[in-house]
Amino acid sequence: MTTVAPRHPLATDAAIQQSRGELLHLVEERMLGFLANEQARWQDVNARAAQPVAALTTFLANGGKRLRPTFCLSGYLAAGGHPANSVAVDAAAALELLQTFILIHDDIADNSSLRRGAPTVHEVFVSEHREQGWQGESRRFGEGVAVLAGDLAFVYADQLAERLPAPARTVWNEMRAELVIGQHLDMAIAAEGVVDPGLSRWVAVQKSGRYTIHRPLVLGATLAGRPDMAAAFEGYGLALGEAFQLRDDLIDAFGSTEDAGKPTGLDFAEHKMTLLLALAAERDPRVAALLDNEEGEPWDAELLRTALEESGVRAAVERTIANLVDKACASLTGSGLDKAWRHEFARLATQVAYRSH
Ligand code: IPE
Ligand code: IPE
Ligand code: MG
Ligand code: MG
Ligand code: MG
Repeated sequence: MTTVAPRHPLATDAAIQQSRGELLHLVEERMLGFLANEQARWQDVNARAAQPVAALTTFLANGGKRLRPTFCLSGYLAAGGHPANSVAVDAAAALELLQTFILIHDDIADNSSLRRGAPTVHEVFVSEHREQGWQGESRRFGEGVAVLAGDLAFVYADQLAERLPAPARTVWNEMRAELVIGQHLDMAIAAEGVVDPGLSRWVAVQKSGRYTIHRPLVLGATLAGRPDMAAAFEGYGLALGEAFQLRDDLIDAFGSTEDAGKPTGLDFAEHKMTLLLALAAERDPRVAALLDNEEGEPWDAELLRTALEESGVRAAVERTIANLVDKACASLTGSGLDKAWRHEFARLATQVAYRSH
C-alpha cells in the first residue's frame, strides 16, 4: 500500500480537530445562509410560502450530531484534501440537508412526535391546524405539509451538491437511492413481520450505515482526489454503520426519551423488525413467540425488554458492537492513513458506537 502523501501536514490530533472544526463551522454558515436567502425570497411572495423554509431552519437549530458532515470532512481531510475548499463544505452541507429530509419523512412514517428534543415537523403543523381550527383533518394537513418541507430539504440538498464533480456525484446518487430503498424495506418487513436477521442487517446498513458513515467518507475522499481510498472506508463504514444502527436500536429499546431526544419504545410500538429484534428472535424462542402474533396486536414492550435482558441478547449485542468497532478500526490498517488520522477514526468509532442519543 502507498502512504497518503502529506500534502498538508495534519499529523497531530489538535490540528485535525482544528481544521475539521473550521470546516464544520463553515458548513453551519453555509446551511443557514442558504436557508436565510430562501426565507427572504419566499417571504416576499407570501408569509405562508416561507413556512416550510422556516421549519427547516428550526429543525437544524434544534441540534443533531452532524455525523454525516463530520465523516465527509474527515474523509476529505484524511485523504489530503486542501483545508480551504468550498465544494467540500457544500458537500457536507448537502449531507446534512439530506439528513433533514429523511428524518422529517421518517418521523411521519414511524409516527414519532419528538425529534432532537422538540416536536417533530408534522406534529408542529398538526397542532397548529388543530389550534387554529382550520378546515379539513389536522393529521392529514400536518403530515402533508411536513412531507413538503422534507421534499424541500431534498431539493436544497441537491442544490448544495450542484458543484460536485462527476465521480462524487455518482457516490451521492447511489447513496440517495440506497437510503430510500432501505427505508422502504424497513417499512415493508415491519408490516409483513419478516423475521430474517440477514435481511434486517441489510436494511440497517442501507437505511443507516451507508449514508451516515460509509458514503460520506468516500464522498470526502473522492473530493480530495483519492477514490482509491474507497475500499478502506467501505470496510470501516460498513462495520461502524452496523454498530451505529445497533446502538440506535438499543437506545430505542432501553434508553430514555429524555436522553435520546426522540420517543423510545417506538420500534416496538411500530412492530419494527430491527436488527436487534431479529437477532433476538433467532437466539431466543421466547422473543420469537412474542413477535409472532397473527392478529397484529401491539408487541408487549416490557416483556420484550425483559426477554432481551434475561436471555443475554442485550449483552450479546453489546459484544457485537465492540467487535464491529474493532473490525472498523482494523479496516484502516494498511490504508496508508497516518497515525493521527487512524487515532481520530478510532475515537469517532467509539463516540458513534457508545452514544446515548
Ligand atoms: C438518526 O440519525 C437516524 C438514524 C440513521 C438512526 P442521527 O442519530 O445521526 O441523528 P441526528 O442527526 O444526530 O439528530
Ligand atoms: C431510520 O432509522 C434511519 C433514517 C432516518 C434514514 P430509525 O427510524 O430507527 O431512526 P430514528 O430512531 O427514528 O432516528
Ligand atoms: Mg424513526
Ligand atoms: Mg425509521
Ligand atoms: Mg431508531
